[in-house]
Amino acid sequence: MTDWDTILIPMAASHQRVARKIIERQNAPDKKKRLRDFPLNEVAAMLGFGAPNVAKLLKKPNFPQGRKEGTKRVFTFAEVEEVRARLYDLTGDERYAPRRRPEEKLAVVAVANLKGGSGKSHLAVHLGQSLARMGHRVLMIDLDAQGTTTTWYGLHPETDVAAGQTFGSWILADTQRNPQADRLTAARACIQSTHWPNIDLVAGNSELHEAEAAIKIRIEEAAREAKVAERRRLSGATGAGLPPIDMRRLGYLAHDEMREFLEVVAQDYDVAIVDCRPEQNELNDSALRAATGVIVPVQARMEDVAATSSYLASLGRHHASMREIHGGAGWDFVRLVVTRHNPQAGAQDFQRQLLERFNAAILLGHSVLDSSAFGTAGNANETLYEHQPVGDRRAYDRALASIQAVCGAIAQDIYRAWGRSWPDGKKQGLGELAGTEAAA
Ligand SMILES: Nc1ncnc2c1ncn2[C@@H]1O[C@H](COP(=O)(O)OP(=O)(O)OP(=O)(O)O)[C@@H](O)[C@H]1O
Ligand SMILES: [Mg+2]
Repeated sequence: MTDWDTILIPMAASHQRVARKIIERQNAPDKKKRLRDFPLNEVAAMLGFGAPNVAKLLKKPNFPQGRKEGTKRVFTFAEVEEVRARLYDLTGDERYAPRRRPEEKLAVVAVANLKGGSGKSHLAVHLGQSLARMGHRVLMIDLDAQGTTTTWYGLHPETDVAAGQTFGSWILADTQRNPQADRLTAARACIQSTHWPNIDLVAGNSELHEAEAAIKIRIEEAAREAKVAERRRLSGATGAGLPPIDMRRLGYLAHDEMREFLEVVAQDYDVAIVDCRPEQNELNDSALRAATGVIVPVQARMEDVAATSSYLASLGRHHASMREIHGGAGWDFVRLVVTRHNPQAGAQDFQRQLLERFNAAILLGHSVLDSSAFGTAGNANETLYEHQPVGDRRAYDRALASIQAVCGAIAQDIYRAWGRSWPDGKKQGLGELAGTEAAA
């Protein structure tokens, strides 16, 4: 008989070593993932201007100068943020200071679908980076023990994530029920910075399995205690005259963990994005309870659409119970987003049309294209925002335009919930600024 353990366990360790080497080689000389610099046209896109104006502006001595890379001038992401701040100082235009204002609540976007492989992690990671490029402070939360989002940030979920760096550790420490706990310290301990200056990460790994089990045990314990109390109430021993205990509340109360965690760290962020695991579990329920918006990615294929329909129904029921128990206005938005869409494939287009017909109220007008560009970038463990294509850019540009349109539409939902008007068109004063700053 073969001793599979002696084969498989060392094999897993070798896999982890190879994955680490790949990250180190791709980012040499650094041992961890590094963000590239951005050429002028991308800086302009991030600021929402035409490149010629930005080129003029960035020649001025009191703006960041970037550095020469071949014939191009490139800028670090930190320099882009500096330009934004400087523009705000000069114009007072609030669109250059996009961070959340005190009266606007933290946007919490849960990206969820029970259907595996629907593009949740992919969309979650691109959405986070798209919002970061707009100047927002983003917290990515990987709620899947597979650690896909974590991997996008150049970390191997099992070897590069220390104990205590996942949302699981917040649950296992039982911070919520510990009155002595320093909650801010406990929450911040689960968070790490990333190669994007304004994106932080709560990583995911197998610690989340333990946390899931811990929540289940807590719910069972609470249910046992509640049953004893209910028997005593019915027998008239104690609590006579009190209303019956609503057992459903117990589960929902246990789902307050994510909401409490985010309340503690909300001051540091504008948007939290939660990449959920493709299953119905307690951790996902806690994300749905904390969410202000839900994004449901779906592939326009028969089996995916069918599975997603039942997921939408269960989301609806979840929302109704949540509101019954906790009150409040509930989610600001729910969006169905077609991912990996191939408009040339007749069957997919037909499925998309069906979705348009029956899910018009929630279907996002834009889809993420199915594109080899995502694969090319992905092979280097890069998102489209991180990747720089070599050679023919057409496939890359099409894919980028589709992901930008999707992320932009979701950002509009977030802005709408904040009561902001979308920063459309040209921002005021740039042309003049580019022309007159030299004299200043
Ligand atoms: N728009 C796209 N074009 C091409 N490939 C894509 C696209 N979106 C996602 N993929 C690929 O599809 C696969 C699944 O994507 P992803 O990991 O985002 O799905 P998921 O829903 O998070 O999966 P899981 O249910 O396992 O968490 C990945 O290999 C990813 O690179
Ligand atoms: Mg995933």
